[in-house]
Order: sequence, then C-alpha cells, then structure tokens
Amino acid sequence: MADARPFHWEFTPEPVAREVFRIEGGVPLRGNVSISGSKNAALKLFAAATLTGERCRFTNVPEIEDVRVMAETLRDLGVVVDHPQDNVYEIASGDVEWLFVPLEAAAKMRASFILLGPLLARFGRVIISNPGGDRIGRRPVDLHVDAMRSLGAQIDYRNGYYFATAPGRLRGTEIRFPFVSVMSTENAMLAATLAEGQTVIRPAAQEPEVDDLIAFLQRMGADVERTYPDTIEVNGKRRLRGADHEVIADRIEAATFVIAAAVTGGKVTVERAPCDHLGAFVEVVGRTGVDVTCSSDTIEVDGSSLIDPGFRASDIETAPYPGLATDTQSPISVLLTQSNGTSHVHETIFEDRLEWLAELNRMGADARMIDSRHATITGRTPLVGAEVEIGDLRAGASLILAALAAQGTSTIHGAHHVHRGYENIERKFLDLGARIERVAEGTDSTSS
Ligand code: UD1
Repeated sequence: MADARPFHWEFTPEPVAREVFRIEGGVPLRGNVSISGSKNAALKLFAAATLTGERCRFTNVPEIEDVRVMAETLRDLGVVVDHPQDNVYEIASGDVEWLFVPLEAAAKMRASFILLGPLLARFGRVIISNPGGDRIGRRPVDLHVDAMRSLGAQIDYRNGYYFATAPGRLRGTEIRFPFVSVMSTENAMLAATLAEGQTVIRPAAQEPEVDDLIAFLQRMGADVERTYPDTIEVNGKRRLRGADHEVIADRIEAATFVIAAAVTGGKVTVERAPCDHLGAFVEVVGRTGVDVTCSSDTIEVDGSSLIDPGFRASDIETAPYPGLATDTQSPISVLLTQSNGTSHVHETIFEDRLEWLAELNRMGADARMIDSRHATITGRTPLVGAEVEIGDLRAGASLILAALAAQGTSTIHGAHHVHRGYENIERKFLDLGARIERVAEGTDSTSS
C-alpha cells in the first residue's frame, strides 16, 4: 500500500522559498488590528471533519501555511477539501481511499498526527508517520499512541511509521494521562466519539481550542462533554453528521499584537480578540506596567509608560491552560528586555523553547540561559537592528517584535516559519504604521 510514498530513509524535504523580513524599527505602532481564526483550533477541526462522510463547513479559518498543509494532506487521502472563498473551507470525507499520512506531512507539521484518532476510529486502520523522528526534533507522541492502544487499537512501529488497526470498533475506556497534553487529549477524544461505550479522559487539557473542538463535535451529533475542568466524557456513537462551525479567534496572535504595541511604546486596539482566553497573559503584561484593558472581544493596549516611568521586571512561568501559555513565552520575553530589572523565565512545557534567546541577544538583549528550562532577562536594554535567523514559529514572531522595538534595520531570515501560523502578518503590521517588508532571500524584490 505504501510503495508509492517515501519511507524515512528516502525522504528529502521540499525546498522552501527562502525569504527574509526586513524591518526598520523604532516606530510606535498605532491603530486597530483584527485577529484571525485560531491555528490550533482549525487544524483539529479539519481532522474532526474526517469522522463523517457528510460535508462540514468552517468559517474564520486562518489563511496560513499549516492550514494549507492540512488541506493538502487530507486531499492526498482522497478527502474533498474546497476553499470557496478566503477563510472558508468545506470538507467532505466520503471517499477516503488512501489511509496513509506520509512523512512529507509530518515533517512540515507535527499536528498532522491528529489524524491518527479520527481515521482509526472511522476506517479501522491508518499508517501514519511519526512526527517525533530525529529529523524534526524530539517531540514524543507516546501519549497519543498509548491512548489509542487503551481504546483497543493495535499499533506497530516500523520504519518511522505507526501501523494502526482497530479490528471491529474501538472500545470506550478510562484514559489516564501521566500529565496534560493538548493534542493527546484531542486525539483520544476524536477517536472516542466513534468508539463503542463510554470513554473518560483525565487529566484532559483545558485549552480553549479543545473546547472549540468539543463544540464542533457536539454539532456533529457526538455525545461529548467536559464534566469537570480536567475531565472529558465521551459516549461513542455509530455515526456522526456534517456540521458548520466558526473557528474561535487566535489567542496567541492577539497576544503577539499586544506585545507589539507595548514594546514600541504604541497604542493599539486589538479587535476580535478572545479576551476570556487571555487571563494569565493579560495579568502578566499588566504586572509589568503596560496599560492593557480587556473587554469582551477588544483589547486596548497603551505602551506609553515604556519611557516614563518604564516597565517593571516580572517573573513568568508557563503552564497548561488556564496558566500562562508556552506560546506566549517568547513574545513576553521581548517585553521583559524592555522592563527595568531582572526577570526570571521558567518554561515548564517544552525543553527547547529558550534557545531562541541567543538570537534576541544579537539584537542587544541581556538574556542568559541557566538551563534548558530557565533563563534570566535583564532590562531595560536598548535593542538594535541586526541580522538574525528564525528557528520556529513563535520565536520568529517574537524576533519581529524585537525588530519593531529596535533602532535601525533588522534582517530576519526564515520568514516561512512565521507564515505557518500568522495570517497576513506584514499587512497587519504595515496597517499599524510599522516599516516591514518581506523580500526574497538575497534579492531586493518584494514578494508580498
Ligand atoms: C499544542 C499546541 C502548541 C502548544 C502546546 C502546549 C497544537 C497544534 N499545538 O502542542 O502550539 O505550544 O500544545 O500548549 O495544538 N508530550 C509527550 N508525549 C506525547 C505528547 C506530548 O511527552 O505523546 C509532551 C510534550 O513534549 C510536551 C508536553 O507533553 O513537553 C505538552 O505537549 P502537548 O500539550 O502535547 O503539546 P502539543 O499538543 O503537541
């Protein structure tokens, strides 16, 4: 079955168009910006659509690279994915003919592994690439695999692929995770919607994107409910139906623009922002002295106290929701470079998320890594334009923030990482008065 697709040893990643952001910093951002749909919600909703043969329609889908990769991955399986207009996708999974998620998809996007649960539950088998392989960094999927096994699946691992089968239907069970994992919770929940009997998932991730997925599954006719903050119960159904759904707003994108306003000493209204999902973030930013007001779906940010009396240092620690999101750690770190005193940063979720601080230091920051999970940032240090390299999505957006705050011009290599998760980021910053352009690497031609 898998002959036509490469196994790990044959795999050569597709070349990506090398582009850079060129940013002339030092302009206080002013105006209004509208937040797009959530990446981490949209990707799982697309996966959920494969639980039924009927058509599902999604609005407020962000126009980003990860969504495009998920759409392509589904099309390769034989799923019909229509994109009738910007931010709208329609998915019909009537004729899935190829239950194989190749390494190309996994290498581009770890979230492709979210297809394991729904494809296994609906079709009884799938071969799916391990996204945690050496080529793309150490990010295990053991919790996902263990959850499927406890639902009765048989899973073998060969040549970088999981071969999963579920003779008959999956069987509901109690799934106890050793710690909270967002996508493992979602994978288990998706699989359980078509399993026989009841599944209880504990501790279940409490991220808003998980609840958005629950809301969509309920529209599909699934019997799924968060019965306690850390518990999700699912009573499996034989069949789910098609449904429509509007994707929730992206809380991480909103946080990025809040920090952009603060570190440039600007004044920005962030519209269509999911205030309810940003409690811990707003609390931290407010503690540093940024004037930030959250009301229903709008955040007003006034960073004028950057100069007088200046922002204050603040210790931060990431945690599963409702704690401070790890995806906001790098933007907040930029804010801490512009805060007076020494701040401690404790990254509790991932062990590779502080390394980008070396790039921030090239722009004049004083950030010191104590170990893979702890760092100190001492401010306020003036940031200066520099040539830096983006290593991943969130660090990339944060280097843009640093460049916007810096005096002089920055060249930021690896722009494609940012387009994985931010819709129209240059346009949104340009509209706030930033001087930013995206150009092809090594040329002066503007590409957006
Ligand atoms: C999701 C988000 C990501 C966010 C992260 C934490 C998506 C597409 N991505 O990632 O943006 O930063 O939640 O909020 O939604 N782990 C294991 N074994 C597993 C699975 C996870 O050890 O099988 C570990 C991870 O290495 C990490 C921790 O669990 O240390 C939490 O990761 P998890 O919540 O699973 O992150 P993702 O769902 O991958």
